[in-house]
Amino acid sequence: MEDKIIKEAKEILDKICEKYKHHDKEIMQGVAGEKLHSLDVLIWIEKLNPHPSLALKLAALFHDIDRIVTPKVGGGFKGERNTKAYFEHKKKHAQRSADYIIPLLSKIVADKDIVKKTEFLIIHHDDNGRQVEDLQDLGLNYLVTADSFAFFTSIAPKLYAAEGKERIKDKIRFMIDKIPDFARKKLEEHQLENSIFNKFKNKIIKEYYQNN
Ligand SMILES: [Fe+2]
Repeated sequence: MEDKIIKEAKEILDKICEKYKHHDKEIMQGVAGEKLHSLDVLIWIEKLNPHPSLALKLAALFHDIDRIVTPKVGGGFKGERNTKAYFEHKKKHAQRSADYIIPLLSKIVADKDIVKKTEFLIIHHDDNGRQVEDLQDLGLNYLVTADSFAFFTSIAPKLYAAEGKERIKDKIRFMIDKIPDFARKKLEEHQLENSIFNKFKNKIIKEYYQNN
């Protein structure tokens, strides 16, 4: 049953990508890149947690759907990332992702609690580390951790090419700063395949622990 729902959810993702392919140029990593990121977060969820809930898997697939549907408001924040404006931008992005996808998921998931849980996870996926820690939700912990791991595999290469060294370091710094401590520790232990990003990551985590 769960496998059938995930299969249908991936078909929904494909249909959304097709419907909004004209947004391709407005999205830093393109529609295909966004789809890859969704699938990558799901892969990380399954690597970190051998028995993820259905809600967690659905949230992994659709947490960033806003960037495909409404890229003009959902993506490409150009200002400083350690500001209230960026935090509000992220909060609205998470809410728009949930508002868009939940009605569609309700058609393929009969259990209302699962739909509600998926909504909760999507709404909170970009909260800051302290808020995530306060919520004490295991699923959310996995989602933010998987999303931060997936950042390095499916977003960083394109961001690096598009915006350069300083902007990517700024983004990594923001991420290291905002994720909950358990995710930061996991990321510290994890050796990234890309040696440049691995160096940036380790240096920034070291800086973080020197200052906090
Ligand atoms: Fe994401």
